Amino acid sequence: MRTVLRTGALRDLRTSASTSLHSNFRNLRGRTTCRLPAVSCYGFHSKSQDCSEALGTAAQLPEAEPVLSAPPRERITIADIKERRAKAGRLIAPTASYSDADMFKAPTVGKPKAKRWDHHLTKESTLREPCKLKQAAKHLKQPGLISLGGGLPCPEYFPISSLTLHIPRPPHFSEAATLADGEDVTIGKYDASSSPPPPPKQSSPEPPPPSRQQVQQQPEYDLSIALNYAQATGSAQMTRFVTEHTELVHGPIPYADWRVCLTVGSTSALEQTLRMLCDGGGVASRRDSLLTEEFSFSTALETAAPLGVGVVGVRMDEQGLLPGDMERILDCWEPGLRGGRRKPHVLYTVPSGQNPTGATQGEQRRREIYEVARRHDVFIVEDEPYYYLQMPDKGNGKGEGRGVATTGDVEEFLEGLIPSYLSMDVDGRVLRMDSFSKVVVPGSRLGWVTASEQIIERFIRHAEVANQGPSGFSQVILHKLLDERWGHEGYLRWLMNLRMEYAKRRDVMVEACDEFLPRELVTWNTPQAGMFHWLKVNHELHPHASTKSILEMEEEIFNSCISRGVLVARGSWFRAEQDRPPPGLYFRATFAAATPENMREAIRRLGEAIRESYQI
Ligand SMILES: Cc1ncc(COP(=O)(O)O)c(C=O)c1O
Repeated sequence: MRTVLRTGALRDLRTSASTSLHSNFRNLRGRTTCRLPAVSCYGFHSKSQDCSEALGTAAQLPEAEPVLSAPPRERITIADIKERRAKAGRLIAPTASYSDADMFKAPTVGKPKAKRWDHHLTKESTLREPCKLKQAAKHLKQPGLISLGGGLPCPEYFPISSLTLHIPRPPHFSEAATLADGEDVTIGKYDASSSPPPPPKQSSPEPPPPSRQQVQQQPEYDLSIALNYAQATGSAQMTRFVTEHTELVHGPIPYADWRVCLTVGSTSALEQTLRMLCDGGGVASRRDSLLTEEFSFSTALETAAPLGVGVVGVRMDEQGLLPGDMERILDCWEPGLRGGRRKPHVLYTVPSGQNPTGATQGEQRRREIYEVARRHDVFIVEDEPYYYLQMPDKGNGKGEGRGVATTGDVEEFLEGLIPSYLSMDVDGRVLRMDSFSKVVVPGSRLGWVTASEQIIERFIRHAEVANQGPSGFSQVILHKLLDERWGHEGYLRWLMNLRMEYAKRRDVMVEACDEFLPRELVTWNTPQAGMFHWLKVNHELHPHASTKSILEMEEEIFNSCISRGVLVARGSWFRAEQDRPPPGLYFRATFAAATPENMREAIRRLGEAIRESYQI
């Protein structure tokens, strides 16, 4: 029982399943190289053929078997989504409506379902019951029902009648262009209701019923809906947008029952996910551990620590996680040698522009890691705030060699992005975390997770009691901007523009490092994505290498930086295994925030601090 009613939407989708599949086929943009076995996996022939068989990447294959390159992808296009929306009609999703990705995604006929993860869930997670008050919202759709049930305030008492935003018009995204020629858009309180409450005590005649065109253009979301309580999944309106966006970028996802849930950003999504999968504390705990990069996002480490979850660092190279090292750790795991901890069953990874190292896993690397995860029954948490900030090689404005499109073609942009774990997930063993923080605004505290139905259902149960879903202000503002005004194409153009802005900043930072840092001591790889530059200082060449520890050298340089007026992050802050000595002397510098001039000055000061410490 669901409160969302879309005029004939679901029925249309079901009955037009085969037509839509064929229209997907027509939209291959020349990539009609669909090999038959994989086609059956994606639902064109729905005989009961097992998906992993069809793809030839079954976990049971001997280790020596080569990892297959990408299976063919028949991307869902913006045109497909427009067609689907036109068929579905206007989205009617009043206050507290339930929604899920299935209502909005392409038919998944014939695809296998995700595997079950009962054996990975924690007791805490399995004990979560549905929120009774949220469930009661399903009755709100009953015509004529007078609700005395929920604690939803009457929008009449919301002290905000409208919000006006001034926003860029794609593709003119700069601040200057927006100020000069941006668009004013207003979000009203009752924009979406078919019959807004008449103003009190007015004797004017009944307004005429709205025309068909007016109805079609009428907003689908407004302040009366957004600012009231909602389902913990987030609004139907934003659920539709992120579902479609996920399909455009990662689709077709190999299994059928994937879902999304909007989040209060990836920080909170990770905390919920770890509590769902890892049981570390307490006497009767499973003593779980988490695999992650040997240098990992410090907040992730700070999330795991109080949960009692052990963290195991996997060695890295310039492409991040080394699958061989991950396999070695899993193959050789001895609880007796690991403080009684169970063999890890969860990997937390930041595949693109990793925080802090800036490393980006190439496609083959991701496939190899996925295969290791399959062999060892490891669940993957893919945290991708920097995914869209994949950049061309430095100084190569055309992005040659990395497939990063710098032209204005949205399709080319999507093709050039390194495939995500989600897109290769034949088992449903990936939970992907997306966030609007780094690509729209961090203050939105808005993101979403994508995973199998089972995992998302458990995630929602936690969200119901943890935060009741993301802020309505954020959702309605981002919906107006991304869905209503820009649409999918405008948003993708925004992302294309943004990653080129970051590429320029990255180039300034790398050039400053070339100019101001002692090259005989400091080395780096030019980041291919994200916001971070990771600098390795050769500790063995330090004049006091025999008496000073790496941590002491790091502290000395850090303090000297502070006294010179520059803040960089210490590499040791990110060590996955905090109780082990760091493998080297590192600093993280971000090119996201400072002006180009300040970035150059900051790197000059860092160079001075290093020289002083090394007495050169
Ligand atoms: C890897 C990674 N994950 C998550 C976050 C935080 O994301 P959010 O703002 O969505 O909580 C950050 C922010 O620095 C990050 O680097």
